Amino acid sequence: MKTIRKAVLPVAGFGTRILPATKSIPKEMLPVVDRPALQYVVDEATEAGIEHIVFVTGRNKGAIEDYFDRAYELEASLHLKQKTELLAELESKLPLPGSASFVRQQAPLGLGHAIWCAREVIGDEPFAVLLPDVLIQAEPGCLKQMVNCYTKTGGNVIAVDAVPGDQTDKYGIITPKSQNGNIYEMSAMVEKPAPADAPSNLKITGRYILQPEIFKFLEQQKPGAGNEIQLTDAMAALMETSPFFALQYEGQDYDLQNRIFRSRLRLCHDP
Ligand code: G1P
Repeated sequence: MKTIRKAVLPVAGFGTRILPATKSIPKEMLPVVDRPALQYVVDEATEAGIEHIVFVTGRNKGAIEDYFDRAYELEASLHLKQKTELLAELESKLPLPGSASFVRQQAPLGLGHAIWCAREVIGDEPFAVLLPDVLIQAEPGCLKQMVNCYTKTGGNVIAVDAVPGDQTDKYGIITPKSQNGNIYEMSAMVEKPAPADAPSNLKITGRYILQPEIFKFLEQQKPGAGNEIQLTDAMAALMETSPFFALQYEGQDYDLQNRIFRSRLRLCHDP
């Protein structure tokens, strides 16, 4: 079984749900406590053994590339002021040379299209996808739990969690076929079904381990929900020929855009 060495992080989205905060700052760079949201997702990937991250970026996302590069003037200034702890912290967050790639998605055609844009860098090996909009608090991290599952099951693994019945139209939803502990086998999955049409209340949480065959399906995938090329539709097709599992992970996910939106609202309304 091939190990999961590479991960794709799609970071091309505009973040329209939290405008104007994201007008000039990529949503992935918004701070959560003391670091950019994206750092948590990169740390989750690293903990799971990922050695190479492919960022699928778009225009106006240069801050992300700069964040993962050296900042000579800043470092020189910190050095002069003998801020050695800060310098060491910056150094610890730098990816190893050559371990991060940046690929442009030239048009916002959907998540499936974004992942397809990474195909040349991923090549012919299984890989992970982490959606940086979704922060997951878990011990061990969600992707690590999935890698542990994958070492037993092989195939493709997605993370799932229960969602309130009236919110299925915000997520990909799976049709479970059988359950073994916290691992489901599935017969189908559908993107953003209306509550009345949802096959279950198990949502796809934004973490994936996929076989490279997914790229063939993504290449031919027609636009689906929201008129976008959907990863969920390509996975549903891949499921016909490649083993697919859903892991009910242990932990809590937070939608970056909703959380910030809510706390902003709270701040606005608090006296
Ligand atoms: C994407 C996926 C969806 C998944 C969700 C998790 O949707 O397409 O299947 O459930 O992320 O947050 P998006 O939020 O990009 O519309």
